[in-house]
Amino acid sequence: MEPRCAGRSCVRARTGTALVLSAALVLSAGQASGQAGSPAGPVPPQLLAARRAALMGRLGTGVVVVRSAEEREDEAHAQDSSFRQDDDFFYLTGVEEAGSVLVGVADGAGGGRWRLYVPERVPAQEQWTGARLGPGAEAVALTGVADVRAAARVVADAPELLAAGGGAGGALWVGGAAPRSCAVRGAGCMDALVAPFAAGAGGTVAPLGPQLAGLRLMKDADELRRMRQAIAITVAAQREAMGSAAPGQHEYEVEAVIEAAFRRRGAERVGFPSIVGSGPNSTVLHYDANRREMRSGDLVVMDIGAEYGYYTADVTRTIPVTGRFTGRQRAVYDLVLGAQQAAIDSVRPGTTLGRLELIAREYMRANSGTICGGGSCDRFFIHGLSHWLGMDVHDVGSYATTLQPGMVLTVEPGVYLPGESLGVRIEDDVLVTAAGHEVLSAEAPRQAAEVEQLMHAGAAPAAAKR
Ligand code: GLY
Ligand code: MN
Ligand code: MN
Repeated sequence: MEPRCAGRSCVRARTGTALVLSAALVLSAGQASGQAGSPAGPVPPQLLAARRAALMGRLGTGVVVVRSAEEREDEAHAQDSSFRQDDDFFYLTGVEEAGSVLVGVADGAGGGRWRLYVPERVPAQEQWTGARLGPGAEAVALTGVADVRAAARVVADAPELLAAGGGAGGALWVGGAAPRSCAVRGAGCMDALVAPFAAGAGGTVAPLGPQLAGLRLMKDADELRRMRQAIAITVAAQREAMGSAAPGQHEYEVEAVIEAAFRRRGAERVGFPSIVGSGPNSTVLHYDANRREMRSGDLVVMDIGAEYGYYTADVTRTIPVTGRFTGRQRAVYDLVLGAQQAAIDSVRPGTTLGRLELIAREYMRANSGTICGGGSCDRFFIHGLSHWLGMDVHDVGSYATTLQPGMVLTVEPGVYLPGESLGVRIEDDVLVTAAGHEVLSAEAPRQAAEVEQLMHAGAAPAAAKR
């Protein structure tokens, strides 16, 4: 089949055709690159400004360079519908445009100024790609950055920016996406964009990521709105999957139900590959081939997360494919559930992820009885209890950080018994609040009886479910 030609460089490669097409093209408002057309809507510019100000408050004198993601390498030959902006760049700008750079000049007193560089609009290319943002008033309004310029100017502007950022006495922080030419993410890569800044910076060259991680741990109002919706979508998908799964289906049929439920509700992509692991696959932690035919008597681990407006959910439920747990499955399930509840009950400001994991393991040690052959089942709990959640499923931030209101974590104990093809994981998303916590995924059935009830309520003849 002929490659479809849609990207910027693709158009460059077919200039003759593109120029003819462009004759009748009028530049329209650039909606695609600023979240304006997305189900989540744009990030309010005042919140973007607050994030940038908070970052400045963490820095001394110097210059910050944050680059956007690039289009895929094969964009010249294929339509690239998989472009996703770099998390840090999106967090600071709300812009989805490739080939862009955000530069900040920190004054050493907690303040500073910002300049955004985005590619110039090219009408001939927009016949293929749709409207782009471009430097101009729209970019100013979307980002709250008053000074927006053409991306082609950034290297030439480097000396001026460095002089404003303290010259030889200032630091250089490098963040955002690593260019394709770099094997190492962050400050280690001195490509054509960063080298002129690095050459003129007198002080240290440091990665910006750790500074931003501290900020991204604490969700602001717009981030929480996005996360609540991502989680609500994921909970709805869990419920649909529970209502439709049946022996004889393949795991990918459950995956299809889940991901259709995501898209119908405005999720733009999955936050991570959906895990639908039945029988032996329930014991494989990141199984995502989803190929097996499910059989009567299987447990099915469904570990899924919709991504909505750049924020992801991460919710796991384990179901009996027949709609009824066996006694043995129920015993393991209730142990994992009890361990999860003990940890969730302990989520509050001041504690740590490490302490929560200890609580879950102590619960298992105290309550395993003979379920795991005499010893504690926690030796079959072979992964960590929690991780931070946000723009990434395993989001940025030190795992040693003390919990504070506004942080979102997962609580996800599991017990995996490969010899019995029996795996159970239960995972919820929890917001730390001043009073303790809120389980954001609470609407997904979690008690074994609730799961069974929903599976029977949603049950239909197997043939109709396929
Ligand atoms: N969904 C991957 C995880 O829970 O870590
Ligand atoms: Mn998780
Ligand atoms: Mn998960």
